[in-house]
Amino acid sequence: MEQSIIILKPDALQRGLIGPILTRLEQRGLKLVGLKLLQIEEALARKHYAAHEGKPFFPGLVQYITSGPVVVVAIRGKAVIEIVRNTVGATNPIKAAPGTIRGDFAVDIGRNLIHASDSPASGDQEVAIFFKPEELVAWNRSTDSWVNE
Ligand SMILES: Nc1ncnc2c1ncn2[C@@H]1O[C@H](COP(=O)(O)OP(=O)(O)O)[C@@H](O)[C@H]1O
Ligand SMILES: [Mg+2]
Repeated sequence: MEQSIIILKPDALQRGLIGPILTRLEQRGLKLVGLKLLQIEEALARKHYAAHEGKPFFPGLVQYITSGPVVVVAIRGKAVIEIVRNTVGATNPIKAAPGTIRGDFAVDIGRNLIHASDSPASGDQEVAIFFKPEELVAWNRSTDSWVNE
């Protein structure tokens, strides 16, 4: 069982796209096990994006992700890392396929609406950063057996 963190970035809230984006994730069959709204502080932003420190876009990225509230979602299930990344689309919305979240709602790499964990290890790490164990709910969905064989 994998887990993934999704962050609906400040542009998603400002543009009123939380509902449409969460709808796509739910409709795909993904199971939400944690959800919260918060404003990311600079220290957390730097930690979350530590792999990008030193790159030219890093200061703008920290400014962007801390510029307003975000919605953070934890998702659990079989192969959710790859499923979520494919539903989100390419990092640069110019290259993102139609039908993906970035391909349908975004046009600029600096305003690409959504973060998704990129490996099972980073999924585990990011879930632990954003959620306390008691904030995660392992629940049985009556449709589970219709979503996964
Ligand atoms: N060239 C760039 N210019 C501006 N922002 C960028 C650029 N590359 C990446 N970013 C920002 O940094 C985030 C993290 O980059 P990366 O981990 O490569 O992509 P992803 O979010 O698809 O995993 C991107 O989602 C985007 O917000
Ligand atoms: Mg990434």
